[in-house]
Amino acid sequence: MRAEAGCDAVPQTDQENLPVVPWPGKGCVIDGRTGGSGTNRPGEPEEQKSSHASNQNQPSQQNRDNPFESRPHHFGIETVAGKRSKRIQCACKIPLSLRIKKIDCPLQFMKSFNIAALAGDGIGPEVMREAVKVLRATEMKCGFKLEITEAPVGWAGIDTAGKALPDATLALCKRSDAILFGSVGLPDRDPMIPKEERPERAALLRIRKEFGLFANLRPVKLPKALAHACPLAKERQGDGIDILVVRELTGGMYFGQPKKIEDIGGGNRRAIDTMVYTTPEIERIAHIAFKAAQLRRKKLTSIDKANVLENGILWREVVTRVGRDYPAVALDHMFVDNGAMQLMLRPTQFDVILCENMFGDILSDEAAALGGSLGMLPSASLGATNGSQTFGFYEPAGGTAPDIAGKDLANPIAQILSAALMLRHSFGLNDAAAAIEAAVAAAIAAGKRTGDIFSPDESGAKRVGTREMGDAIAAAV
Ligand code: IPM
Ligand code: MG
Repeated sequence: MRAEAGCDAVPQTDQENLPVVPWPGKGCVIDGRTGGSGTNRPGEPEEQKSSHASNQNQPSQQNRDNPFESRPHHFGIETVAGKRSKRIQCACKIPLSLRIKKIDCPLQFMKSFNIAALAGDGIGPEVMREAVKVLRATEMKCGFKLEITEAPVGWAGIDTAGKALPDATLALCKRSDAILFGSVGLPDRDPMIPKEERPERAALLRIRKEFGLFANLRPVKLPKALAHACPLAKERQGDGIDILVVRELTGGMYFGQPKKIEDIGGGNRRAIDTMVYTTPEIERIAHIAFKAAQLRRKKLTSIDKANVLENGILWREVVTRVGRDYPAVALDHMFVDNGAMQLMLRPTQFDVILCENMFGDILSDEAAALGGSLGMLPSASLGATNGSQTFGFYEPAGGTAPDIAGKDLANPIAQILSAALMLRHSFGLNDAAAAIEAAVAAAIAAGKRTGDIFSPDESGAKRVGTREMGDAIAAAV
């Protein structure tokens, strides 16, 4: 296989950093089979039943390479009836030199990966469009093949197929190598349906549980150039903020039973959420966090509430015990209230922060603000490792932002960086991931700013829209 310098000639893996857990019922097939039918979307009967069918999330065969793009953007190889055929029908802006390199690649040796792209609601589709654009530019340069198949989820799923996670979407996820996710949830529409059917629970939490995505990695980085976007005074930012939040994602209060609201007589009700963790659940996420710390600045801060919660006591005990396997990593423990305060006072003391599910939800948003904007925070939710591949779910942490949806205002960087995490953690394409991260840094260094990271006081900065930011990053890959 030919590859550009700086890209992975052969996909690399750093799977020794990840625990082996059961594979969630899919074959780990690396080929281009999703293109066989010539359709981008699983068309199961359930999909056709909807009475509210909308075209918003219908796949477009014309836009197979970027189903989220309204204009043609074709270039690539289509798998037809199990055979590869070249399809060179390029209306994209990729430089000719890169196109020629791709044509030169011996196709049969090119690694191929199947991605389920679930854009969801609000700003999801527009930031997903930019991430796919950047992935396509990276694919051109680095010589691997991505089969990207779109499917509806969230309110888009409810509108097209009657539920937040349509069966066909779930089936697509199961036969894919990774899920690239946008965001789901439109709070204004919530009152229309029971809470169990709302996208957050019926799609997002269900996918996390269904695929055993217990390890959520949220890297927060404040680039020097964005110091103005950090709410902290410059002297608190030190030499820059660089924190990895490792959040347990399938346990704790989100999933513990019982979980209900019940009548207790006299017109009163009682709400019950149950926080529950087992030793193996704590051990496996602790291993992930220690291994990540080993590859970074070798410091791990474990968050708990051991002064009040039984869960906190067990958490601290188990993390301490697991820590004995990692003598090079300095471990300290913090109560969650103090941790929240320390993040504001002295964020530079943190390297890796390990949290249970709910504390991680809260602290990762707080940490994201330090990185300049929630629109900059990517995440990887990892589950099974099978040989050299880890099944993963990659999403920006920022949510649907319905107030700015469809206005070309959203920052696509969190989605683009999530795509980079996918290349690294699920496909072992470390150089390609680094190329995307470097391209993001280059666009920022060139002064491109979406509204959330723009300051009129910054000289040389240009306020740009979602599309222009994506174009700049794709061009820099
Ligand atoms: C997140 C989100 C979700 C969570 C919501 C949307 C259910 O806040 O991924 O951080 O609480 O986990
Ligand atoms: Mg959250």
